Amino acid sequence: MQKQEKRTENDFIFGKLIGEGSFSSVFLAKEIRSKHEYAAKICSKHLIAQEKKIEQVLREKEVMTILNQAENKTAPFFVKLAYAFQSDANLYFILSYCKHGELLDLIKTVGNFDHESASFYTGEILRGLEHLHSLNIVHRDLKPENILLDDRMHIKISDFGSAKILEKVESDEATGDLLRSSSFVGTAQYVSPELLQEKKICYASDLWSLGCIIYQIVSGLPPFRSKSEYLIFKSILALNYEFPSGFFDDARDLVQKLLVLDASGRLGARDRGGRYCSVRNHTFLAHLNLDTLHLETPPIIT
Ligand code: ADE
Repeated sequence: MQKQEKRTENDFIFGKLIGEGSFSSVFLAKEIRSKHEYAAKICSKHLIAQEKKIEQVLREKEVMTILNQAENKTAPFFVKLAYAFQSDANLYFILSYCKHGELLDLIKTVGNFDHESASFYTGEILRGLEHLHSLNIVHRDLKPENILLDDRMHIKISDFGSAKILEKVESDEATGDLLRSSSFVGTAQYVSPELLQEKKICYASDLWSLGCIIYQIVSGLPPFRSKSEYLIFKSILALNYEFPSGFFDDARDLVQKLLVLDASGRLGARDRGGRYCSVRNHTFLAHLNLDTLHLETPPIIT
């Protein structure tokens, strides 16, 4: 964050509404001085307190600050916090603007991704997770709504309100990083069985969500679907999902290796050194150069 130069709401012209949450609204905002476009997340202090989300908002700012400070030039796949300030009524987070919106809307528009596009975007999300996890951060709510697309159609992971910064204490021998959490976080369709059942926090929970997202970009729908959250949870715990006909064989194999109930059995869960080598080497991704994806022109989705 550029701490040396303070901003206030008077430095921006606020435009159209581009997102909404339970205590915040996101507006397109133009900085008057630079004419630069941002996404301004405006959080009502009153609603934050009323909905008991103070911790969530503080966490989100903390994680974005860590990501700004630990910028990885080969994994620039995160929404950046440019400025943070407050008025009497609101908190303002001035974020990089992702012109092409949510991955979810793109999936809805195109139906499903061709093989080249599906593997490319899987690779970008994996690079983002490698970087996030190397900073000891678990996202815990990774889903297509929280993956935005910038002006060049590269991904930017957003929404760190459910994230957890793990301390390397009480660690588990196998997966390196397990602690216990007290409350359900995340979104029903993408939540991992261990978060649901034992409230364990581990990096591999994001690998489960990655498996759900790969399934969705290849087929158009998430793997676990039902009328109610309760029935979705039941399907997740029973690993009750099916592949539609035409699902790419290599993507199917990768999804099956990520959607494993035991977190330590997921592909990548035992990898070390900031790289998910076993996922990188999977046939669905092996043709990609994951360290230069950010320099490539993303494939046009057909
Ligand atoms: N909606 C929420 N955050 C956004 C961002 N940073 N860019 C575009 N749309 C958004």
